[in-house]
Amino acid sequence: MCGIVGAIAQRDVSAILLEGLKRLEYRGYDSAGMAVMNAEGALRREREVGKVAKLEEAITTSPLPGHIGIAHTRWATHGKPSQLNAHPHQSGERLAIVHNGIIENYEALRRGLKADGYEFTSETDTEVVVHSLNKQLKNGPTLESLHTVIQDFHGAYALAVLNADDPDHLVVCREGSPLVIGVGIGENFIASDPLALLQVTDRFIYLEEGDTAEVGIESIRIWDRENKLVERPVQRYEYGIESSDKGSFRHYMLKEIYEQPKVIKATLEGRLGADYVLDQVLGTAAAEVFEGVGSVQIVACGTSFHAGLVARYWIEDLVGIPCSVEVASEYRYRNHVVKNDMLFLTISQSGETADTLAALRQAKAAGFKAALTVCNVPGSSLTRESDLSVMTLAGPEIGVASTKAFTTQLTALLMLTLALGRRHGLSREREAEIVAGLRALPSQIQAVLDLDGSIERLSQAFAEKHHALFLGRGTMYPVAMEGALKLKEISYIHAEAYPAGELKHGPLALVDKDMPVITVAPNNELLEKLKSNLQEVKARGGELFVFADQDTDFTPEEGVTLLHIPKVHDILAPIVYTVPLQLLSYHVAVLKGTDVDQPRNLAKSVTVE
Ligand code: G6P
Repeated sequence: MCGIVGAIAQRDVSAILLEGLKRLEYRGYDSAGMAVMNAEGALRREREVGKVAKLEEAITTSPLPGHIGIAHTRWATHGKPSQLNAHPHQSGERLAIVHNGIIENYEALRRGLKADGYEFTSETDTEVVVHSLNKQLKNGPTLESLHTVIQDFHGAYALAVLNADDPDHLVVCREGSPLVIGVGIGENFIASDPLALLQVTDRFIYLEEGDTAEVGIESIRIWDRENKLVERPVQRYEYGIESSDKGSFRHYMLKEIYEQPKVIKATLEGRLGADYVLDQVLGTAAAEVFEGVGSVQIVACGTSFHAGLVARYWIEDLVGIPCSVEVASEYRYRNHVVKNDMLFLTISQSGETADTLAALRQAKAAGFKAALTVCNVPGSSLTRESDLSVMTLAGPEIGVASTKAFTTQLTALLMLTLALGRRHGLSREREAEIVAGLRALPSQIQAVLDLDGSIERLSQAFAEKHHALFLGRGTMYPVAMEGALKLKEISYIHAEAYPAGELKHGPLALVDKDMPVITVAPNNELLEKLKSNLQEVKARGGELFVFADQDTDFTPEEGVTLLHIPKVHDILAPIVYTVPLQLLSYHVAVLKGTDVDQPRNLAKSVTVE
């Protein structure tokens, strides 16, 4: 998804902007650009299709020095990836902007501006913003003009403006897309994601919806939607700078898979008593909110949705109250029943996913009991708009395909389930047993990571395949879904997941020697049923790959490859069994030579609809 970086400083900002864009590459993009005002007061711009490295090359050949500038990585929504569609967009020679989000009513605005004589050089919705602003500038200074023109925009946007006639300020605003101000000493910055600026500051002001701001070298002034001057707190970023580094790993994804024991431990830390979950973990209001919860509605997207599907099994099993789960893009566009004893639970790595945010806002208007978010990014929109936040401490996740965010989400969701369950008759003994399981998680995941060599060997069987089928039962069904999602995201192999019991209702027709079937089989009450399902596959000549508990009596044989996973408590099995599937997808993708960390067409943080 698009990324914004901006800087105003006494030193040259072009290197800061370039480094910022590099740090945003993980979000997925197709072109990049930069505009800087030079010492003579002229705007200079460079835009390139493709990677930031191409922009860097262009800037090395023809430098863009200056003390104030804006830059952007674009992920095409309106108009193909091209130099003309790349940001910054300009109106005349003095005004440039970068934009994240979508201006939904851009066509009508464009017609009006064309009638006024403005010439359009791109197919983007963004260009109406820069021309509208240019038109308005005839009536007043940059900030006031921006505040006026945004009243005409429908949609979502974060905007940063560079006006050569107002060279002491960057002017920005946010509505529906994130924007932060990075606070420096004698220099200030702006970005769509604090990660872009961690090399220059760890202090951030998170703009609120409807805010506009004027950022100078020494001053930051912010106005709210009503145009009232407001103070927003400066917050220190919690992660160390090193955590957004790849270290010695070949890809961020592999690094993030290997970080799982550490980040799960961090997510558990301070949240467990001797044999129970500490209530305070869920915020001071948690005790009061949880008392009267009668049902749970989970809404999320992508991998986070899969975490929600696992949580439904846990909540209905251990808490005993109804729990529904839905992808946010569906939930937000249908009539739904929101009851006043409902806990509305969003799950999101970024906390900025547009559909999830929209679903939360709608349900809030309909009147639920409380909103809780399980989220990885402090200060993100979802955490600010929810009553309670349970933070996953996964640290920055850079690989587009989510790994450590998922397993820490599951860890947090299980703690949440236990805290809720206690109020609905979950026994002390059962809670104690699961808490002991949680404590053992980091070492169990480490034991699975130790199988990496075997999983890498196994991945060779997939490199030439075009399809794969993942099977699971119970909580292992969403784990199979997550396994299939990982494989398709990064290796581009078509993969589907089925609850194993559904095999005979359709997918069995697809099974032959070219269709590898992967299954996750902990030793639980569904094991015997799963084994019968696998017989159905074997009988049709399908090639089986089984990740199974040591205690199960699967035996390797012709057409059956077996990998033993260390014994794990049944409730925790979804967390542990996810890891071999992550590694499998990773190695298949490496063998296929795909762009593992930035798979084609995908974005890390989907802040538009
Ligand atoms: C994108 C990412 C996925 C992620 C999904 C939801 O599709 O590529 O990895 O699971 O968005 O994002 P969220 O930040 O809300 O978890």
